[in-house]
Amino acid sequence: MSREKPRIINSTDAPVLPPPAVSRIVIRPSTAADLDAVTRIYAWNVLHGSGTFELEAPDRAEIERRRADVLAKGLPWLVLESDGAVAGYAYANHFRPRPAYRFCVEDSVYLAPETVGRGFGHLLLAELLARCEAAGARQMLAVIGDSANAASIGVHRALGFAPAGTIRAAGWKFDRWLDVVVMQKSLGAGDSRPAPAP
Ligand SMILES: CC(C)(COP(=O)(O)OP(=O)(O)OC[C@H]1O[C@@H](n2cnc3c(N)ncnc32)[C@H](O)[C@@H]1OP(=O)(O)O)[C@@H](O)C(=O)NCCC(=O)NCCS
Repeated sequence: MSREKPRIINSTDAPVLPPPAVSRIVIRPSTAADLDAVTRIYAWNVLHGSGTFELEAPDRAEIERRRADVLAKGLPWLVLESDGAVAGYAYANHFRPRPAYRFCVEDSVYLAPETVGRGFGHLLLAELLARCEAAGARQMLAVIGDSANAASIGVHRALGFAPAGTIRAAGWKFDRWLDVVVMQKSLGAGDSRPAPAP
């Protein structure tokens, strides 16, 4: 079978090529219709990843309850859609429930395993930062499961989070001790001004 030889072309006789396939990426607030996909994505990460210290995957009803809790605080729960399918999600919640923590949020971001390493985490986290700042948060923490979680440490570093400490051997999962890496970023006025009066 003969194969056509590659041909060097110059700019004057270049053929008009079809545009490259470009995926359509949308980041938007989640809806109830996204909960099946979110439940699936998180379940994979619980069962196979060390980024979360949960050991059993929560069901859809529990994910729905967690999302409602976040939204009730005026905080964002976003999804990233790639070509119409939910590929990942990100949300923020108060770092701890006691009320003095209300200006300090902790982020969570999870992607479907086949979509990691394409910049989706960066896009989701950047949008989450902007929305949390708009919602009045002054600090964001990343509480990263596993000091070997290079992708999570990388995405937070890329968005300006600074290391705030490592808690050694805080978790036991997959038959090994796991550290927790804490990273922090100021939002808006940060601590340069007092918090607004209630
Ligand atoms: C963590 C996660 C959200 C990052 O999203 P991602 O789409 O894979 O990462 P991105 O492609 O957006 O990369 C963002 C940055 O991190 C860096 N990075 C990503 N993966 C990396 C890796 N494995 N090693 C080192 N750096 C890495 C990239 O170089 C990039 O830096 P740049 O913006 O300066 O180029 C995603 O990998 C994921 O869902 N992981 C499993 C779940 C998880 O651990 N979530 C976090 C819980 S704390």
